[in-house]
Amino acid sequence: MAKDKVVRELEDLPGIGETTAEKLRAAGIDSLDKVATTAPFELAETAGISPEKAKEAIRVAQESVTLNFSTGEEIFNRRKEIGRITTASKDLDELIGGGVETNGITETYGRFASGKTQIGFQLSVDVQLPRNKGGLDGSVLFIDTESTFRPERIEEIAKKAGLDPQKALSNIFVIRATTTDEQTLALERADKLIQEKNVKLIVVDSLTALFRSEYVGRGALGERQQKLNMHLHRLQRLADKYDLAVYVTNQVMDNPAILFGDPTTPIGGNILAHAATTMLYLRKSKEEKRIVRLVDSPSMPEGECVIKITPQGISE
Ligand code: GTP
Ligand code: MG
Repeated sequence: MAKDKVVRELEDLPGIGETTAEKLRAAGIDSLDKVATTAPFELAETAGISPEKAKEAIRVAQESVTLNFSTGEEIFNRRKEIGRITTASKDLDELIGGGVETNGITETYGRFASGKTQIGFQLSVDVQLPRNKGGLDGSVLFIDTESTFRPERIEEIAKKAGLDPQKALSNIFVIRATTTDEQTLALERADKLIQEKNVKLIVVDSLTALFRSEYVGRGALGERQQKLNMHLHRLQRLADKYDLAVYVTNQVMDNPAILFGDPTTPIGGNILAHAATTMLYLRKSKEEKRIVRLVDSPSMPEGECVIKITPQGISE
């Protein structure tokens, strides 16, 4: 038993790949408990797999459901081990409970030039710091979908953080993705890099831009959301498996349904809001100042703070 791999989600079941798992989720069979209590023929039909495979998946699901109990104390202790990366702003760190956390997805959304990418650069440097300086001694997988990765900015930020700029750059593995397929593939192939290079942060900047341009029109919306959902699932799986932090950026669109207040909502809507552990909304203020609003967090109250974007990165 001890040699078996840990079964946490649908994809961990034998014979269930990511596409099959998505079919099951779409049909409402979205947890191991549900698989465990589904009839074999129903699972076979829904997933499009043979009845034998369905039986085996159900058997493993049933086993895992009883095996995976955790006490509240265990979860509490696990939560205490969660790593955090400083944003270089004390106020912002405090707002989100001590920095960007591992095992979860942190999303920023906001209009152009609101600072989403700059925060990604800052985290890419800070994650390399030792643990007692707000880092995780780790390296970075940076998925750049907008060609906005700027080594010069990394150099400046690294100098300020007290790191050797060349070394800091060599610890950031940048993948330029020009299609959603490339963006997705980057994660599928990430395991080896993560293990070999001790990746502790994955940045996806931007998470949604390519999805938005590839899937246009009302008809494509469902498919876009489904693919985006899968992508987020992969990110969350990597975050859990390797105890790493995920930082994603998202544009906003004008929402005509909101008549009062700020008429902008993040692309991807509810699915993203559900998947992202921590959501931050960025707004431009005077000159270098940006207002950061904590919109959603598992453990912190809503709130706001102000940061500055300087040539040396984020500061108070
Ligand atoms: P989009 O990707 O266009 O949606 O925007 P974004 O939210 O990613 O914006 P980004 O993080 O790139 O922030 C852009 C802003 O950062 C600029 O408007 C500048 O204010 C600031 N910025 C970028 N580079 C520099 C720099 O070298 N020096 C300084 N002082 N500020 C910079
Ligand atoms: Mg950007």
